[in-house]
Amino acid sequence: MATLKILIFPDPKLRTVAEPVKEVNDSIIKLTEDMLETMYEGEGIGLAATQVDVHKRIIVIDISNEKNDPIVLINPKINKIINEEIKSYSEGCLSVPGIFEELERPSAVEIIALGIDGKEFTLVAEDILSVVIQHEMDHLEGKMMVDFLSNLKREMIRKKMVKLRASK
Ligand code: NI
Repeated sequence: MATLKILIFPDPKLRTVAEPVKEVNDSIIKLTEDMLETMYEGEGIGLAATQVDVHKRIIVIDISNEKNDPIVLINPKINKIINEEIKSYSEGCLSVPGIFEELERPSAVEIIALGIDGKEFTLVAEDILSVVIQHEMDHLEGKMMVDFLSNLKREMIRKKMVKLRASK
């Protein structure tokens, strides 16, 4: 396994719309392993392939405290919104390090995706899992959490990230 370089906002590559995975082969499986390692190293709970500059519809998630319950979703789709009740969570993003913002999203969704075995499965995601999946699926559309904020706030974050990048 290897860790991958994470793109940092406002890198324009983060705006790329990801392509569906045609076949879950060894290179896709290797990519999901590297994405998981990268996510764990960054102490994140979710990562989209877009964030490591691979524009395929793949996300990895682990919301467990022990970091031993990885979820891989390939070509994920929201099948239905199970609970339209909007919940607010403080969201972070490995592509916007150190920034946490309260965002509102539906509290329960049903997802259809392929697993690393290439088989389709359904997942009912509630609360934090629902939030993480929606956040990561946004990345696959080239959308980011900063897009939900005011222009002023986004501009402040953009400046902070540019400074952070220059200092590295
Ligand atoms: Ni993110």
